[in-house]
Amino acid sequence: MLRKADQWKDYACIDAGDGEKLERWGDVILRRPDPQAIWPKDERFALWRQADAVYHRSKSGGGNWEYRKKIPEFWTVSYQDLTFKVSPTGFKHTGLFPEQAANWDWMRSLIQSCPDEEIRVLNLFAYTGGATMACAAAGAAEVVHVDAAKGMVAWARENRDLCHLEDHKIRFIVDDVLKFVEREKRRGRTYHGILMDPPSYGRGPGGEMWKFEKEITGLINACTEILDEHALFFLINSYTTGFSHIVLEDMMKVLILPEHPGTLETGEIAIPIEHRDLLLPCGIFGRWQRNA
Ligand SMILES: C[S@@+](CC[C@H](N)C(=O)[O-])C[C@H]1O[C@@H](n2cnc3c(N)ncnc32)[C@H](O)[C@@H]1O
Repeated sequence: MLRKADQWKDYACIDAGDGEKLERWGDVILRRPDPQAIWPKDERFALWRQADAVYHRSKSGGGNWEYRKKIPEFWTVSYQDLTFKVSPTGFKHTGLFPEQAANWDWMRSLIQSCPDEEIRVLNLFAYTGGATMACAAAGAAEVVHVDAAKGMVAWARENRDLCHLEDHKIRFIVDDVLKFVEREKRRGRTYHGILMDPPSYGRGPGGEMWKFEKEITGLINACTEILDEHALFFLINSYTTGFSHIVLEDMMKVLILPEHPGTLETGEIAIPIEHRDLLLPCGIFGRWQRNA
């Protein structure tokens, strides 16, 4: 199944090609690498030459932003009732993955479909909290936001304030995801919604190694033990290249369905390209939801 993040007003992927994408973030136009965009760009399209900032990869790894116009250090973009801080960061990122709006919409509609239930959500590898804010705004009773990076959790708190969700129960936790889930298991806590957006490689705050193909089975297994018997959803998102969404479907069939009967949908997420009738692929998702 293909799910498109096509409801944005403050963000657009204007064009993509030759390993780059050209994006509008509010009033700012950024040009940055995208390894999926291997088709030719439209060279005649003048906006490619009018980007406010361009990210250049360096041969020694990493890279840097070249500012062609003066842009603010950070600014905000809104998605529906949510507002997020964006900023060009050291590693070509902006602090937001706009394609995730496709997943936010799905979780929001599930949470909103049961207004009389107390829905506790666990967001793992939660980064700057796009999904955290979407679930809290949808009416989740509690959202627990876990990420290894202190700076990302601080950014997520800023996003909470920008979204005016200060009076919602959001717990911000700097921890290794697996350690946290195991601790929750010992405490007997359960969640009605669990979502994870694991990177290919990462580190916990204590240097704990995360490698997608090595760790993912253990983490899903541990999560199934804290998935409430009345759970609503379980979402896995992945950007790790080389894995088909069928891998996620098989993993979820083997690891989740035996103890938690429900419905699975897996597929790809994409962002429409404004200038031409093309789509930018942005990774895979696996969604479990309880049977109606
Ligand atoms: C790909 S980003 C997640 C994007 C996010 N879900 C979103 O849509 O905004 C990966 C995040 O995982 C975190 N991370 C990596 N290894 C971790 C670990 N072992 N425990 C906790 N967080 C980890 C990083 O700090 C980073 O913020």
